[in-house]
Amino acid sequence: MDYLTGFGRPLGTTAPRAAFGTDAPRLSLNGTWRFRLAPSVAEAAAGFWAPDFDDTGWAELPVPSSWPMHGFGRPAYTNVVYPFPVDPPHVPTDNPTGDHRLVFDVPAGFAGLGARLRFDGVDSCGRVWLNGVELGVTQGSRLPAEFDVTAALRPGGANVLAVRVHQWSAGSYLEDQDMWWLPGIFRDVTLLARPAGGVDDVFVQAGYEPDGRGRLRVEGPADAVVSIPELGLDRLPAGTAHDAGPVEPWTAETPRLYELVVATATETATLRIGFRTVAVTGGILTVNGRRIVLRGVNRHEFHPELGRVVPPDVVRAELELMKRHHVNAIRTSHYPPHPAVLDLCDELGFWVIDECDYETHGFEPVGWRGNPSDDPRFAEACVDRMRRMVERDKNHPSVIMWSLGNEAGVGANLGRMADWARERDPGRPLHYEGDRSCAHVDVYSRMYAGHAEVDAIGRGEGQVPHLPFILCEYAHAMGNGPGGLAEYDELFDRHPRCQGGFVWEWLDHGIRRPEGDYAYGGDFGEPLHDGNFVIDGLVFPDRTPSPGLTELAAVYAPVRLNVGAGEVTVRSRYVFRSLAGAELRWSVTVDGGPGAEGSVPLPVVAAGEMVVVALNHDMADKPGSGAADSSGSEAWLTVHTVAPDGLVLGSGQVQLRAAAPVPGVPAGAGPRRDGGVIRLGAAEFEPVHGTLTRLGSLALRGPVLDVWRAPIDNDRLGHDPVAARWRAAGLHRMTHRLLGLELGPDALVVATRVAPAAADRALLAWYTWRTLGDAVELTVRVEPAGDWDVPLPRLGVHLELPADLGAVAWFGAGPGEAYPDSRTAALTGRYESTVDDLTTPYVYPQENGNRADAHWLTLTGPDGHGLRVEAAPRIDFTARRWSTAALDAARHRSELVAEDRIHLHLDHAHHGLGSAACGPGVLPQYELRPEPATFTVTLRAF
Ligand code: GAL
Repeated sequence: MDYLTGFGRPLGTTAPRAAFGTDAPRLSLNGTWRFRLAPSVAEAAAGFWAPDFDDTGWAELPVPSSWPMHGFGRPAYTNVVYPFPVDPPHVPTDNPTGDHRLVFDVPAGFAGLGARLRFDGVDSCGRVWLNGVELGVTQGSRLPAEFDVTAALRPGGANVLAVRVHQWSAGSYLEDQDMWWLPGIFRDVTLLARPAGGVDDVFVQAGYEPDGRGRLRVEGPADAVVSIPELGLDRLPAGTAHDAGPVEPWTAETPRLYELVVATATETATLRIGFRTVAVTGGILTVNGRRIVLRGVNRHEFHPELGRVVPPDVVRAELELMKRHHVNAIRTSHYPPHPAVLDLCDELGFWVIDECDYETHGFEPVGWRGNPSDDPRFAEACVDRMRRMVERDKNHPSVIMWSLGNEAGVGANLGRMADWARERDPGRPLHYEGDRSCAHVDVYSRMYAGHAEVDAIGRGEGQVPHLPFILCEYAHAMGNGPGGLAEYDELFDRHPRCQGGFVWEWLDHGIRRPEGDYAYGGDFGEPLHDGNFVIDGLVFPDRTPSPGLTELAAVYAPVRLNVGAGEVTVRSRYVFRSLAGAELRWSVTVDGGPGAEGSVPLPVVAAGEMVVVALNHDMADKPGSGAADSSGSEAWLTVHTVAPDGLVLGSGQVQLRAAAPVPGVPAGAGPRRDGGVIRLGAAEFEPVHGTLTRLGSLALRGPVLDVWRAPIDNDRLGHDPVAARWRAAGLHRMTHRLLGLELGPDALVVATRVAPAAADRALLAWYTWRTLGDAVELTVRVEPAGDWDVPLPRLGVHLELPADLGAVAWFGAGPGEAYPDSRTAALTGRYESTVDDLTTPYVYPQENGNRADAHWLTLTGPDGHGLRVEAAPRIDFTARRWSTAALDAARHRSELVAEDRIHLHLDHAHHGLGSAACGPGVLPQYELRPEPATFTVTLRAF
């Protein structure tokens, strides 16, 4: 049978084994290779594997690489559907085929030793020759494949390696993950010497017993001896269980590793191991006997310039970034990562669900007919994939669960995979979300269940009440969002069996474009694609955090603080480590300005404990009720729990004193007509619409009622997109009709009816203007009229200001953007920024940048002039250099062009963000219902 249609089976590979370092010689074959891409197998170069084949006319290509990222062919993105006919095991005739050649010298030290050639990842299928000798075929893109090259290798001389990589193979049917299709040799290629009688494989089982002792069993060659020098364990025989004595356990919070040495007469292997015991007991997932909560993310392997190749320094930096944001768990969606990732997870401390490279989601649109999960012809490939993952990664303490794959329907092959894994590694529970019967697994896993359902599951309702419950995906982080994180986390705290979840997903998979922004599905002319659904991460493609990650950090924070005026309740959510060495840093701000500050060492708070700490500051004896006092100033106490390395483990705030409301004292004469304008104190209005056009020396336009926002992905997508209802209701094209201008003795009242064409529903808006000397006070009263059956995107006013007022300061929530259901991270304070920096660069342009609950804000030009807005009591604001309409129309960042003005939005309220792009929408309490509302701001030009 043609190997491409061989139901996903590799050919000629050796038995899978663990990845670890040894003292045997090895040679990296990464580097610059010769490359030629052919549009089909038939058009590839005949005989290119011959050592004397002339490849001088070929291109050069780095290996590892995803070849479309280097100008060969193009990336393509689909989520669910296959980009080829569903016709297993066949693949298209036009099957991009990349021939790779490398001439390399093998050191003489390899002479007399066996040798293997290892590929850590080839997408999707590679046929391999060394020195003209055919070795076999790889399948299973994100799994290692090794070939015995002892006979073909020429130590001490030049060798020629030839690899023909096909984009499509029967294995592609098993690799339908939601991501770019990116063929290539995308992970390391290594030549490994294999001494006779060496350490071919090691399986370390290192448990942690309730009495604090380690239990060790190492499978390896029969004559191998095992040592852990740090524990005084020396040359123990392999293959039997040993009491390792008292040990420090490994946990994601305390990633204690020991060096373990396995030696035979000819080879010494060194591994870093951790003692820990994973179990499901009484319906609870435990590690070392304690219930854990997975505060996780789903992690794909992607780089905006390199595709599926992620340089080691980038990986380390991103895992460190996760740790700094209190992520304690990773699901390796949806395939085993580069092996070095798991070394880092061991070292830094993450609970890992290691997922098999297996997804057949594209069978769902055809009614799951012919699903490989239930096709016996694919059975061998399925089990092979599970086996290669488990064998490769079995020694990692961080891996606490195996996952059979993702979205592969149901079928007997999944059972075969599970049976194999259980037999081989009884020490790890199994996970698979796609089979609701939970026939083969140890945890009940779901994706995108809403809060109410998670709550019900927590109370023991639902089909599988006997298993621990996790959300393998939740809180879809596409674009601006997710909203509702805090409410999920509260459920994980409340219900013992709700043991957390993994936000979908860590990273936006945008591809860098020459325009300076990022491409997504469709940008490469794919006839079938899923647009920007691949842009759904907590970090942007270059791995800078989005506001969603900042929010996640505040929600996942291990320490909860309840701040009172004179004392702080500190609750640790750590399960294994204490807060030893941490301190409380407090500061009092008065009207946002610096006040007293100090720090208090924390007593040692054991894991899961709560303590109350007195704060001895000069505001401590003031009432913590937030009541105003005669000083008129507003005071806040902010407390951070800070770890010895400076990481904030949790924050809290209390308002010590509210600002005394400054009574608006009308000053000066009332409104009057003056030629073609209306004047009121420092303000000038045009009478056609009743709009403010000048304030003192400041030319401006507005404020006018505004309810539209450029829909976020969570508005646009999902089952019943609210943005479609908004557009149908005409909320993006509201018109304003002046009902009347009333020039009263001390106020100008502008009455308007704001409504879209073709509808009879409206918002009636009254603007009441009063002068306060050099300022004007505006009260906006809004009343819905007619039949309203949609929430509003926002409720506020919009002003246009001169473009040079680019410096922004405010006292309110910050420093980052915040929306009603994503507000945990924002703390009240005084902040400074610029109009440009207030914008969040979401890859797909959409509403962004809101700063919540401002008490006042200023926009200032370089000459020191500007506008001050004061709110009674609070207002949200957004400032940007383009209109909402332009933001709404743009599809990529580079389409957003600065206008000759600043658009300032002052919002009384916003609709929440939710997670509806994939999952639940905005929680009822965060929906913005059209209801009567009144808000007041004061505008002052300075
Ligand atoms: C899930 C799937 C993920 C991703 C996500 C939506 O169904 O497992 O791979 O597609 O939805 O972004």
